Amino acid sequence: MKKKTVLLINGPNLNLLGKRENKIYGKITLKKLVKKLKKKANFFKIHLKTFQSNSESKLIKKIQISKKIVKYIIINPAAYTHTSIALRDALLSVNIPFIEIHISNIYSRENFRANSWFSDISSGIICGLGIKGYFLALEAIYDKIIKEK
Ligand code: DQA
Repeated sequence: MKKKTVLLINGPNLNLLGKRENKIYGKITLKKLVKKLKKKANFFKIHLKTFQSNSESKLIKKIQISKKIVKYIIINPAAYTHTSIALRDALLSVNIPFIEIHISNIYSRENFRANSWFSDISSGIICGLGIKGYFLALEAIYDKIIKEK
């Protein structure tokens, strides 16, 4: 059986995971996190592709070229969560279901973080559970696209 492809997208400044605001975002680096997630994906027989960019245009391009290849997206749009209608439109245009994830609880921080341009069009949101949220998203997708078939 061909493995289903899931795309993990991390937005701006998440390349600095492990170095930026440790109290909020934890100590693990993005590289280590991706390694652990790929291991878990492998266990689930999921092909996990990953992409991080600080550029809105590159993130949009990645989403656009994922049509027909990617079954599900896990996205932490980072600061673009609160600003990017363009990224929202890109997700709508490819019609790939996605889970929105945030390491921190965006509702218990500054007011401007409480607005997300993604939540209402997502199939689910995980926020405030630290990096554990990424693993939970993968597990939820496993249930949706593999187990429930
Ligand atoms: C974040 C929350 C955003 O408000 C912030 O801009 C980020 C990360 C999170 O994972 O908690 O960069 O998406």
